[in-house]
Amino acid sequence: MRITRLIAGAALLALLAGCGGASPSESTAPAPTAATASAGGGDVSAGADVYKSTCSSCHAPDAGGLKGLGKDLVGTAFMSQDGDDLVTFLKVGRGPSDADNTTGVQMPPRGGNPSLGDDDLTNVVAYLKSLG
Ligand code: HEC
Repeated sequence: MRITRLIAGAALLALLAGCGGASPSESTAPAPTAATASAGGGDVSAGADVYKSTCSSCHAPDAGGLKGLGKDLVGTAFMSQDGDDLVTFLKVGRGPSDADNTTGVQMPPRGGNPSLGDDDLTNVVAYLKSLG
């Protein structure tokens, strides 16, 4: 997770260095806001709210995971899947007897919050993808 960020940061620096400094037009461009829709669809800032209220208790406020409660969700191979596939996963979760389960602990369907609609799940996926 951190490594991916470092690489992305290094790539950005290399890109900026290659430009030989920002031109005036570039420096006046508005910075993207947190509410910007992600490439895969979904609202990142609405997703952050869903994450805080439903997921952070098991996956930690920074989504880095909590031992015995929930796994790391930042920049992992699992999280690099297509957003639609991740939403499909979230709808069903992963029971303790599922062959893919590595912790013996249940990932509840919709994070255990049945009031979350598919839009909420799309938003939380957009938020998590924005982290890593
Ligand atoms: C009650 C605790 C709990 C809550 C709440 C919860 N999860 Fe989980 N989640 C888990 C556990 C435990 C696992 C790991 C299951 C396993 O061993 O495969 C998991 C796994 C996952 C995975 C798969 C990660 C991987 O690498 O296999 C994703 C994605 C995920 N959770 C997302 C979420 C999201 C998004 C929410 C909120 C909507 C949420 N979870 C809420 C406990 C929870």
